[in-house]
Amino acid sequence: MTSNNQIKDRMKTGLQTYCIIGNPISHSLSPVMQNTAFKELGLNCNYFAFRVSHEDLKSCIDSFRSLNISGFNVTIPHKVSIIKYLDYLDESASKAAAVNTVKNINGKLWGYNTDIYGFMFPLRKRNFDFTKKNILIIGAGGSSRAIITGLSEEKDRISKIFIVNRTISKAMELTDFALKNGLNCEFHSLDEIKNYSLISHLIVNTTSMGMNNEESLLDSKSINKNSIVFDIVYNPIYTNLIQNAKHAQSTIIFGYEMLLFQGVKAFQIWTGLKAPVEAMKKSLLGIFGEPK
Ligand code: ATR
Repeated sequence: MTSNNQIKDRMKTGLQTYCIIGNPISHSLSPVMQNTAFKELGLNCNYFAFRVSHEDLKSCIDSFRSLNISGFNVTIPHKVSIIKYLDYLDESASKAAAVNTVKNINGKLWGYNTDIYGFMFPLRKRNFDFTKKNILIIGAGGSSRAIITGLSEEKDRISKIFIVNRTISKAMELTDFALKNGLNCEFHSLDEIKNYSLISHLIVNTTSMGMNNEESLLDSKSINKNSIVFDIVYNPIYTNLIQNAKHAQSTIIFGYEMLLFQGVKAFQIWTGLKAPVEAMKKSLLGIFGEPK
């Protein structure tokens, strides 16, 4: 068995390059988080961000192969379209049919989905009991597929999943995906959201609403005190939904936690090492620490 020190020594010998591709990408906090992790463990690795358009995705992956890149993250809008350019998918990526992490193993590109872990770990950490719980998912984009895949681990316990989305056809598609994964699920239009928020024990915002300080569709009166509100938007930290959930005195899970734990898992996949979670967290939250 290879020890941590042996792995570290191997990674120190030659420079290894990692990156994230997406469009837009300038807002990404992954470079600061992953470079902090590499530095913390003294690894000779670098992590960059590249804006890659849909049209350039194939040539970008061809270049990565020529350069023998060690690994990369994939974000909006490439999490699904990347699949056709990879050699293999691990179980997480096949289940979600979406990839956010790629590792180069002996010249072959392997796809993984660490968003599933990024979403589930903050709930597991809080010992959230899924038994007989209703869950409201707002949004039906790429992130919600990973979230549904994660929730399917608890399909025998969860009572019902309600999906609401602006584009109803996408809500239908995601519901179909959830049903195929053994979840009891139904979809509704976005304007019906309040009919389901008060009867949900967990509310997850998977849309980009909140990134530009937009008002949330849920005011504090539409959120149950005993529920958990998980907003996957991480910038700003205090979205309007989070503020309303706070006002309703419900439990909050900030978006940075999903970002952090998907990154922790990606780091572990790439390096085989235990990720320096506290240093990575500090790189995201700065000197102010945990938001209250
Ligand atoms: P991601 O990969 O992060 O999930 P995505 O696949 O582009 O990104 O999905 C974005 C989600 O945010 C979708 O559910 C989208 O709704 P539509 O399916 O109707 O496009 C939702 N969304 C984005 N902006 C929105 C807005 N202003 N109002 C309501 N929903 C919005």
